[in-house]
Amino acid sequence: MDASWWCGHFRRSKLMKTAPLDLGCSVTGVNAAKATKTEIKKLRDLLYKNRLIVLKDQNLTEAQYCDFAKRVGNPVPYLQDNYHHPEFPLIFVSSNVKKDGKQIGVARTGGYWHSDTSFEKDPKFITMLMPKVLPKNFARSTRFIDMAAVYKALPAATKKKLAGREFMHTGKMRYKVRTQDAGYDIFEILATIDKLCPAVRHPAVIEHPYTKEKVLYGNRGFTLSIADASLDESASLLKEIFDFAETPRFVKEVQWSMGDVIIWDNRFLGHTSGRNEGLEEETMMYRITLQDGMPLCASQINSKVAA
Ligand SMILES: [Fe+2]
Repeated sequence: MDASWWCGHFRRSKLMKTAPLDLGCSVTGVNAAKATKTEIKKLRDLLYKNRLIVLKDQNLTEAQYCDFAKRVGNPVPYLQDNYHHPEFPLIFVSSNVKKDGKQIGVARTGGYWHSDTSFEKDPKFITMLMPKVLPKNFARSTRFIDMAAVYKALPAATKKKLAGREFMHTGKMRYKVRTQDAGYDIFEILATIDKLCPAVRHPAVIEHPYTKEKVLYGNRGFTLSIADASLDESASLLKEIFDFAETPRFVKEVQWSMGDVIIWDNRFLGHTSGRNEGLEEETMMYRITLQDGMPLCASQINSKVAA
């Protein structure tokens, strides 16, 4: 989509230029710290039409990064504050870096297929990532699946089985036990998570509010079951669609460089972090998740907390 496209002239005679990536496109000629309203509008249009954009050659302070997020949408701090940057709570710090022997942020995040915050009643639909520390010896990347392409390619019989269904989402099974959880048993910890963030129902197939494309809104990491289905039907249908999706036909990879700001739409994309367990080097990423003023789907069926 929009394989190579000139956006035209903007203030200060800057030229926004795009180039295709394995998924989405890179964008040069825009300074996120000084982006005009017209440029922000164009970036959002590019984002929805391409699923993902990578702003190249950025050099943002934490404050500038948060300010940019506020101009693109409505950024919301992550529900667990142990992930927050100490001075900028909008920033979720994914990091295995230790400073003075103390862990900064949370390590080993997102190494499974998921859509950020799909387990929340009001998921955040835009994710921004900015690297702060990248491995020196191995390229760092994130892998993505375009769930609109997956839905389009599903067999007609599978689409029929999904029609009108809802998926149950929960982050419970991905909860990272914290030092302050010591002394509680697993059931107590699970009950605490349920209280903090109960399982939610979202439509299995959504119509994207901007492009009107149909998208399969489910992921193996957070989608626990199909609402109101038997355990057998639920397990077998979810396995069928995730096995179908998580294949080289759909999996695309985006590599990271310092100066990148990667932005994607969580309605369209499932993703998994590209960390390599055997080759783990120091990495630090700054993530901000945003609401974008649009609902989950064009014909919003209100997502609701499970009874
Ligand atoms: Fe993620």
